Amino acid sequence: MKVDALKKSFTKDIKGAQDVKSLEAVRIKYLGRKDGQLTKILKSLKNLSVVQRRKIGPEANALRQEIEKALNERLGIFVVKQQHLDIDVTLPGKKIPIGHLHILTQLENEVRDIFSRLNFSVVEGPEVETEYYNFDALNIQSGHPARDMWDTFWLNQPVVVPTTDNDKKLLRTHTSPMQIRFMEKHKPPFQIIVPGRVFRYEATDASHEINFHQIEGLMVGNGVNLANFKYVIETFLRQLFGADIEIRFRPSYFPFVEPGLEVDIKLSSGQEKLIASRKSEWLEVMGAGMVHPNVFRAVSYDTNKIQGFAFGVGLERLAMIKYKIDDIRLFHSGDLRFINQF
Ligand code: DAH
Repeated sequence: MKVDALKKSFTKDIKGAQDVKSLEAVRIKYLGRKDGQLTKILKSLKNLSVVQRRKIGPEANALRQEIEKALNERLGIFVVKQQHLDIDVTLPGKKIPIGHLHILTQLENEVRDIFSRLNFSVVEGPEVETEYYNFDALNIQSGHPARDMWDTFWLNQPVVVPTTDNDKKLLRTHTSPMQIRFMEKHKPPFQIIVPGRVFRYEATDASHEINFHQIEGLMVGNGVNLANFKYVIETFLRQLFGADIEIRFRPSYFPFVEPGLEVDIKLSSGQEKLIASRKSEWLEVMGAGMVHPNVFRAVSYDTNKIQGFAFGVGLERLAMIKYKIDDIRLFHSGDLRFINQF
C-alpha cells in the first residue's frame, strides 16, 4: 500500500538526515507543496471513490502529522546542538551595567536599621504641610522671631478664604511636624523615627541646600529623660561611625524643646576642606532636647505624667562626615562621577 511504503521510506530518510539542510530536503521530498510525495497523495484524494477516500484519507493525514512532528523534533535537536557550539564558555563574562541605590538612600536604610534594632518604629509624613503642623503646634507662633530659623517656601494658597489663619500650605522646613501628627493619633509610650525630605528657602553653598533630608526622632513615655536620650544617640552614632568617634553635647535653643541641645561630631583628617569652611573641627549633626510642655499640650497629653525627647538629624550631614564629602550640592547634582563612587 502506498501510504505504508511512504512511511517506511520516510523513517529511513529522517534517520539519515544529519543536519538542518538535509532535514529540509527530507521535508520537501514528502511535504513539498508541489512535488512532495505525501502532498501528491493528499491532493489526489478528491479523485478517489468514496470508499477509497474513507480509507486512505485518514491514513494519509495521520502520516502527515507524524512526519511534521518528527521533523520538528529533529530540528529542535539540531538547533540546540548548534547553540552549544556557538557558546564559548571560556570567554570572560560581560558585566551588564545596572543602577544602584543613591548614597543617601543607602545611608537612610542604614539609619532605619540601627533604630529598628533599638526598637524604634519608622513612620513617614507629608512634604506639603500646613502652617499649624510646621510651626504653631511646635510652639513657634507667627510673629515670634524663632520663625526666622526656618526660611520657608510658601505655596500658592487656595482662593477660598482659609477657615483658620494657620492652615496655610507650605513645604515642610523640617520633619518635626510629624511629631504632632503622630501624637495626635497615638498614646505613649512609643518611640519613632521619621525620615524625609525637607525644604528651605535659602541661598545654596557648600553646606546649604534648598532641598535636603532629615530624620526626626521622638521617644515619649512616663519618665523618659535626658540620660535615655544620650544613650540612644551615642549608640546610634557609634554604630554608624564606629566606636571611637568623638561626640559633643551642647546647650542650644529650639522652641519645641526645653532644654534644647545640639550634638556635634569631631571631624578627622581628610576633612580639612570641610573644617576650613566651617572654621571648626566640630560639625553639628542634630538638634534635640526634651519635648516642650506646650507641644504636649497641643496634642492634649498630660504634661505631669508624660515626658519625652526629640531630635532631628541631617542625613546629608551624616553622609558628608562618613564619606568625607565637602559639598552638599553634590548629592543632587546627578553627576555620575560622584554617584558611582558609592
Ligand atoms: N527641626 C529642627 C530643624 O530642622 C531640628 C530639631 C531640633 C529637631 C530639635 C528636633 C529637636 O526634634 O528636638 O532645625
